[in-house]
Amino acid sequence: MKVTLAKADAVTAKADLLAVPVFAGAELGPGAEEAVAALGAPVAPLLEARGFTGKTGEVAALPTLGRLEATVLVLVGVGERAKVDAEVLRRAAAAVVRQGRGAGKAVTTLPQALPADPAAAVQAVTEGALLAAYRFDKYKRAKANGDGPPAELGALALVPGEARRAALTGAVAAGQARAAATNLARDLSNEPANALHPADLAAAARKLLAGKGVTVKVKDEKALAAEGFGGIVGVGQGAEHPPRLIELRYAPKGASGEVVLVGKGITFDSGGLSLKPPDSMKTMKTDMSGAAAVLAAMSVLADLDVTVAVTGYLASAENMPSGRATRPGDVLTMKNGKTVEVLNTDAEGRLVMADALALGAAAKPDAIIDVATLTGACVVALGNRYTGLMANDEALAAELLEAAAEAGEPTWRLPLPPEYRKDIESDLADLKNVGDRYGGALFAGLFLQEFVDDRPWVHLDIAGPARAESDDGYLSKGSTGAAVRTLLTWLERRSAAR
Ligand code: BES
Ligand code: MN
Ligand code: ZN
Repeated sequence: MKVTLAKADAVTAKADLLAVPVFAGAELGPGAEEAVAALGAPVAPLLEARGFTGKTGEVAALPTLGRLEATVLVLVGVGERAKVDAEVLRRAAAAVVRQGRGAGKAVTTLPQALPADPAAAVQAVTEGALLAAYRFDKYKRAKANGDGPPAELGALALVPGEARRAALTGAVAAGQARAAATNLARDLSNEPANALHPADLAAAARKLLAGKGVTVKVKDEKALAAEGFGGIVGVGQGAEHPPRLIELRYAPKGASGEVVLVGKGITFDSGGLSLKPPDSMKTMKTDMSGAAAVLAAMSVLADLDVTVAVTGYLASAENMPSGRATRPGDVLTMKNGKTVEVLNTDAEGRLVMADALALGAAAKPDAIIDVATLTGACVVALGNRYTGLMANDEALAAELLEAAAEAGEPTWRLPLPPEYRKDIESDLADLKNVGDRYGGALFAGLFLQEFVDDRPWVHLDIAGPARAESDDGYLSKGSTGAAVRTLLTWLERRSAAR
């Protein structure tokens, strides 16, 4: 789907669909008055009969019977006028795109529902529309011969009202970049594990980041063993397909600061010898969603004019059982020299992350953010939609919480209680990789904290939001690209602030 700024005024534009905002209480918004007037028929009784009240994401499609240039008038709910924000517009845009399946072109005045900030409005509508248009169908044979689902809406033209066009072109581009990055993360994460082993992730990074201002360096299993990455080696050694540590480097001229991003890249998590039950394994190809988010976010840093230097580490391994696999009770020596007794091989994420965090911290960056589908316990605590945030630095935690809110990615802070630290002490080694039965997300966080060398650090546990069980707003079933837009918003704000 293509998103553009419209040349013509909405009511006179040629299109299959004209989509206009309606506020709560069925109050017609910008463009809706003119469109309904042109219809020349009262719509209120019809909307009432259909139960349309103008809640965010509600749509009512009305045939225009030749009274308008567009064939169908789509009324889109945006809720209360005073509460319209970027997230409301993303969801409303998604509703238009879903309504427009099978159609060629839609025109919309949706950005005008947020007149206070035309650029933010245009960016949000662009982003929401492109995210909703996403689908992962490369393994489907059915094409547009009537067997498959209808094709996506072909194009969406935005009618932004009075504001200066020049500024808004940039807003369309920013929305496109943010959606493209999110959809790239979804693609990588939706890819089955037999098509994406750690070496394939490295190859994908090289291919996808070429020409994007990001250099890629890869450590293979021999380099990892020689250089002391005991966690990544230990997790990866049971698999036929060996592990990789993938380093991504974005270094703009005159960079204003230095940050490290770390992503969990377990291309398949069987649990290892502490084997998962079959049902828990079904979705474990998405256990590299953190790595996908870091890779994808870094693919658009140049497009978004980020001025901060960013080093990304993708800690990638396949967690498999075999005669060579790490056993419960084995001790690993990590990159920073700490020793870890592995009591559960299914707590593998923290082991690969620890090595990458230690490497990242050694360069003494201003901030470290890690993203990982780390614990089922985080999903138990916060459900499927919320990211769990843990941090050793108040200011950095606040920055990430604000960025997440602006990006529309629900995020909730969890503690790193010092009094729980003793539960990850091992009788045999410095640490063990599991804590108490309860509060599992916190023990994982406390474990990671041992490897950041007291640098300012935020840990994002995306075990819940990395996947969606159904199409919902601008999320589509399967991988969601969680954390990509939070990372981008944070990096953009840090760029603007310096
Ligand atoms: N990848 C899983 C966490 C996960 C669970 C992600 C469900 C998405 C959905 C992780 O490696 C894991 O297995 N964690 C264990 C840790 C436990 C053994 C201490 C868990 O959460 O059960
Ligand atoms: Mn696991
Ligand atoms: Zn895992």
